[in-house]
Amino acid sequence: MKRVACGIALGIMCLVGVSVWAQAPAGGGQQAPPPMTNLQVWPQNTSRAVVINFMNAFNRSLGVECNYCHVQREGRFDFASDDKREKKVARKMIMLRDSINVSLAAIVDKPVGAGPTSGEGRPGAPTRVLCASCHHGLPIPEPLGAVVSQSEANGGGAAAGLAKFKELRAKFYGGQQYDFTEYALVGIGTAALNAKRPDDALVYLQANLEYFPKSSMTYQGIAQVKNAKGDKQGAIQDLSRALELNPNNAQARNQLQQLKGQ
Ligand code: HEC
Ligand code: HEC
Repeated sequence: MKRVACGIALGIMCLVGVSVWAQAPAGGGQQAPPPMTNLQVWPQNTSRAVVINFMNAFNRSLGVECNYCHVQREGRFDFASDDKREKKVARKMIMLRDSINVSLAAIVDKPVGAGPTSGEGRPGAPTRVLCASCHHGLPIPEPLGAVVSQSEANGGGAAAGLAKFKELRAKFYGGQQYDFTEYALVGIGTAALNAKRPDDALVYLQANLEYFPKSSMTYQGIAQVKNAKGDKQGAIQDLSRALELNPNNAQARNQLQQLKGQ
């Protein structure tokens, strides 16, 4: 790993390792790649190694490949071309990220990274917002709940929403893209209940018990749905179960007391 010096204009990481030129032209052997001709955000004289490092980081941050932003003609990349909308958006995103970092430093009143190491890793420097901070492995970052409710809205209701959830879970579980913790389906179910769709809420909450059979908050959510549907006895049972599973669930305790007192 070689240490690359870079200034604030370059934004992100400075303690990056220099990776080799990954896109050697087919059959070109050790042929040097053409010089860069169309840097508009970064300084024209930025070294290729530094640019390629940022590019690799883009791929990882968005969960995409180079062709997401760069056009290919006859099997070869034309990296300088601006024909793809995504590349032009990415340029503005670089500026957005850098401006966030400048504002952020002022908001938390920490010295914005300056000089050869751009503040990275320096004591007292603010945390840097990166592409990955927002994108977390997705080209269009969206919370799971929003994706699920889009599927609902396309027709098919909670069945379609749950199918979408399962599809994404099968694909991304364990990754950084979506939150598949105990809270996820509880949040989606609660949103359905708040939207006066208690039966849809039940679909999500019951599905959550398949993944988290001992989830106190899920039983508590199911109790809320039953209560909303006028099934007081059922609600009491589920709240009791919620308390058994987590005696520290103060909300469930309060709700149970209220229901029993009614
Ligand atoms: C998210 C979009 C995005 C992805 C993915 C991406 N790039 Fe880029 N690339 C850009 C942008 C934006 C620029 C221009 C930066 C500027 O204007 O300063 C650029 C510029 C370049 C340049 C300089 C071209 C020139 O001549 O000016 C090269 C080379 C390059 N990218 C290679 C790659 C490689 C290799 C990959 C895959 C490892 C890749 N890029 C992935 C957005 C992307
Ligand atoms: C503050 C959060 C944030 C940061 C930082 C950020 N992005 Fe984005 N970006 C978004 C959001 C949100 C969208 C989706 C907007 C939409 O279409 O709904 C997006 C969209 C994009 C798109 C368009 C995707 C498409 O197919 O329409 C590209 C390309 C992109 N970002 C690249 C980047 C790159 C590269 C970086 C780092 C230099 C970056 N973004 C930093 C939030 C961010």
